[in-house]
Amino acid sequence: MIKVLYIGDVVGQPGRRALHEKLEHVVDREKIDFTIVNIENAAGGFGVTEAIMEELAELPINAYTSGNHIWDKKEFVDNYDHYDHVIRPANYPAGNPGKGKVVRQTAGGVNVAVLQFMGNVFMPPCDNPFHCADRELKDVDTKVIIVDIHCEATSEKQAMGRYLDGRVSAVLGTHTHVPTADERILPNGTAFQTDVGMTGAYDSIIGFRPEEALHRFLMNTPKKLEVAKRDIRMSGAMIEVDETSGRASRITRIHERLNE
Ligand SMILES: [Fe+2]
Ligand SMILES: [Fe+2]
Repeated sequence: MIKVLYIGDVVGQPGRRALHEKLEHVVDREKIDFTIVNIENAAGGFGVTEAIMEELAELPINAYTSGNHIWDKKEFVDNYDHYDHVIRPANYPAGNPGKGKVVRQTAGGVNVAVLQFMGNVFMPPCDNPFHCADRELKDVDTKVIIVDIHCEATSEKQAMGRYLDGRVSAVLGTHTHVPTADERILPNGTAFQTDVGMTGAYDSIIGFRPEEALHRFLMNTPKKLEVAKRDIRMSGAMIEVDETSGRASRITRIHERLNE
């Protein structure tokens, strides 16, 4: 059995602080073999930078996922080739930088594949994520396979969980930044949670200060969002997987609050 830790969207400096203060502790406490972190919002809420990748390199992280915000920082996108352990949704049109799939090994020598797909409902237009998953999974030959489904709609995330049940070890939702209480093992052995939650400030609107976030809804005009700072938490899910079958036996929510 191996233990995989999946950490949800890291939002700005408070999210990174949560990683620095909590990640190593949780990895040691839970005897985690493989850690995946979603960093689409790590740089002030929008994308990630090379300096942040360097800052995170000291932490026990094996692979990164991202999402629609990975394109926000030009310097990272221009150098995406240097970061093959940072994946983005596989269903973006061909020709974009980055890849939607990576295989890395645990310290014990178990290969873990990580894939990401983006939903079509209320998201930037992309290829059909379900058909894309069929194509991408064809050439994955590891037993342990973790899928990030980056969606706005809970139904679309649950649909992906059901679609891949028995074919992958876990389907975990990101993007909405709100941890859901529906973690479970699906009938054919795939661990599932609609959203693993956000790593950042919870006294906020999905990680941003309510002042600016509310302006959008009240005035219907844009206002630059500022990252919130209070009530910082690291949120994610821990999955136990039998590495010989790829089936998950348990999924547990992880929610660690910083002392302020
Ligand atoms: Fe996000
Ligand atoms: Fe997103």
